[in-house]
Amino acid sequence: MEELGSVVWPPEPIRTERLVLREPETRDRAAFVELLASPEVHAYLGGPRPRAELERELSGAPERWPGSFVVDLDGAMIGQILLRRATGHRRPAAAGKADLGYLFLPRAWGSGYAAEACAAALRWLAGALPGESVVLTTQTANVASMRLAAKLGFTEVERFEAWGAEQWLGMRSPVTPSG
Ligand SMILES: CC(C)(COP(=O)(O)OP(=O)(O)OC[C@H]1O[C@@H](n2cnc3c(N)ncnc32)[C@H](O)[C@@H]1OP(=O)(O)O)[C@@H](O)C(=O)NCCC(=O)NCCS
Repeated sequence: MEELGSVVWPPEPIRTERLVLREPETRDRAAFVELLASPEVHAYLGGPRPRAELERELSGAPERWPGSFVVDLDGAMIGQILLRRATGHRRPAAAGKADLGYLFLPRAWGSGYAAEACAAALRWLAGALPGESVVLTTQTANVASMRLAAKLGFTEVERFEAWGAEQWLGMRSPVTPSG
């Protein structure tokens, strides 16, 4: 995965009904450690990273790169949205496309926050890089992620085996302006 390309970064914080999408800040460090060390969050993502390693290696404001949004609820981080360029994707249909990923803290699951935040991030992307399709890869066993992908308008391109599990590659076509 590489960075998206020529986007203006960081954008102004993006406000939705309940959330703010913004660039990572130093105060998010503890939440990033929690997110990246969580076995629940990484159940379908190849397992978490050791907490001690994260405590050692995560510096200042972690994960600060174009396309990395912190999702903020009432002033505290509840998740991360990752928009990257799938340059080396193993499936040709996805290679080079913009790629969406999402990780939310378990205490924030089940309230529609991921759907609300991802929809806003996709609107930002459509403005920043008009006309781009977006891809998304998730394990088919990851039911919550599969539901979210469908809700966001991703449709199946193919299923494939990788990392010891069945994967789902979805794509979302660019929204064309109407009238
Ligand atoms: C994938 C993941 C982000 C999904 O989170 P989520 O909270 O289940 O997703 P949503 O935001 O769509 O919320 C789901 C539920 O919230 C509820 N909900 C929706 N809108 C709501 C609202 N406005 N108010 C209250 N509750 C609401 C609904 O019950 C909804 O369930 P439904 O899909 O059956 O309708 C989360 O499971 C996660 O972080 N997993 C670990 C990381 C991961 O696997 N990422 C995927 C690979 S990149």
